[in-house]
Amino acid sequence: MKLLLVLFSCSLLTAKCRPVSKISGRGSFNKLLLISFDGFRWDYDQDADTPNMDALVKEGVKAKYITPPMITMTSPSHFTTITGRWIEDHGVVHNMMFNSTSLLKLTHVATLKRSEWWDNGALPLWITAQNQGLKTASFFYPGGGVNYSGQAVDRSLLKPYNHPDDNETEWQNNIDTVMGWFTEEDFDFVTLYFGEPDNIGHKTGPDTQERVKIIEQIDRTIGYLRNAIQKHNLVHRLNVIITSDHGMTTIKKKPMVEEIQLSKYLNFLTLTHFDLLDYGGFGMIRPRKGKEQEVYDLLKNAHPNLTVYRKEEIPENFHLARNSRIQPIVVMGDLGFNLNSRLILYVNKGDHGFHNGEMDMKTIFRAFGPNFKKNFLSEPFDSINIYPLMCKLLGVSPAPNNGSLLYTEMMLVDGRTLRSYVYYTLIK
Ligand SMILES: *[C@@H]1O[C@H](CO)[C@@H](O)[C@H](O)[C@H]1NC(C)=O
Ligand SMILES: *[C@@H]1O[C@H](CO)[C@@H](O)[C@H](O)[C@H]1NC(C)=O
Ligand SMILES: *[C@@H]1O[C@H](CO)[C@@H](O)[C@H](O)[C@H]1NC(C)=O
Ligand SMILES: *[C@@H]1O[C@H](CO)[C@@H](O)[C@H](O)[C@H]1NC(C)=O
Ligand SMILES: *[C@@H]1O[C@H](CO)[C@@H](O)[C@H](O)[C@H]1NC(C)=O
Ligand SMILES: [Zn+2]
Repeated sequence: MKLLLVLFSCSLLTAKCRPVSKISGRGSFNKLLLISFDGFRWDYDQDADTPNMDALVKEGVKAKYITPPMITMTSPSHFTTITGRWIEDHGVVHNMMFNSTSLLKLTHVATLKRSEWWDNGALPLWITAQNQGLKTASFFYPGGGVNYSGQAVDRSLLKPYNHPDDNETEWQNNIDTVMGWFTEEDFDFVTLYFGEPDNIGHKTGPDTQERVKIIEQIDRTIGYLRNAIQKHNLVHRLNVIITSDHGMTTIKKKPMVEEIQLSKYLNFLTLTHFDLLDYGGFGMIRPRKGKEQEVYDLLKNAHPNLTVYRKEEIPENFHLARNSRIQPIVVMGDLGFNLNSRLILYVNKGDHGFHNGEMDMKTIFRAFGPNFKKNFLSEPFDSINIYPLMCKLLGVSPAPNNGSLLYTEMMLVDGRTLRSYVYYTLIK
């Protein structure tokens, strides 16, 4: 009897507050645009002229910085944001797709079209939202171009191969396209990805005039976005989150330091079957059968700025070990020490993939729109918590995830939406 009463009052409440999308539009829930500027280090706005980002601080929410998951790489981190799952759970453990038995390796760009790399059981928000009646789209966002349990994102654009990352006119066109999706086609949730400032950060290093210039271009683009939102009459209907996947650091080179070159310490040919190295500060090695201890011993004290883990030893709080794609030996360089395998061919001046506790790996979080407080400075939090925030803003009942609203709900103007959302989840 008591139980019945409780359920009854809950359903009365939800009848009033629940999303009514299937009946008559989206009720009290606003649309959401998630924007990622790849490789935007948390402090990049401090030495650049960024009037639009500065204005957004007054008009919305800024986090001091946010912490990406370990591995601070593009696909793993973007997929944590869109799934709310740790990397060991969502399984996208690298930018490259690989098979350590067949020795197959695919580039990041090729991987963006391969469902088998992304579809490991953790459902990204596009799909969860679509299953609850929303309309979603991905514009170049990593993971948006494949199928999950056979289901594609409603609208998805893939970045063409060798596409220039820094064309400001095209950035504006892309924003216009997305505004059209919201206003003319009534999309509820769109993710929009930009390849900068990552590209410049790699090419010239983060502490250069070129990087400052691209931040100012990004800032103008954010200004363009603010105008476009007004022009399309979306000011009171659209929430916007601007974030990124990792930071960037200057690579340490000779003669400043002794670079890490693993072939100095072990014979790849006789001891290893497969490796994923020469890709920033994180790498993995699969030794030949019976050679695991030898590889480990050879690397353990090889270089003062190299850390080696057996898979079983990877710290629990990396949330990394519990996935079959993680190889028996994991290697990490100290900040700025890239992991070179056989030769030092690396020409990039900046890189990432380093420990997510390093300040240079931290990234940005900004948000504005009808549901966000104004002039609100948030303490730092983990990027994994963006997922439940997005679900709450959209009125979507979240899939199982590892994030929490505890760190973000105080950014919102109204706790009431939260309560109706909880009831909605209970009733489901
Ligand atoms: C990896 O390659 C091996 C050997 O070709 C194959 O048997 C296995 O199914 C592949 N694994 C995956 C996950 O594709
Ligand atoms: C997704 O599924 C559709 C329909 O089955 C198919 O045409 C498309 O090629 C699939 N896309 C990928 C990336 O596998
Ligand atoms: C930039 O993009 C615009 C619009 O797509 C195009 O017309 C222009 O040629 C591009 N500029 C460069 C330098 O690629
Ligand atoms: C590299 O190792 C040396 C020796 O342990 C240490 O003093 C230095 O701080 C390390 N560099 C970084 C960036 O951690
Ligand atoms: C993350 O969430 C998934 C799904 O709820 C759960 O299975 C997993 O144990 C969680 N991971 C941690 C470290 O709590
Ligand atoms: Zn990236």
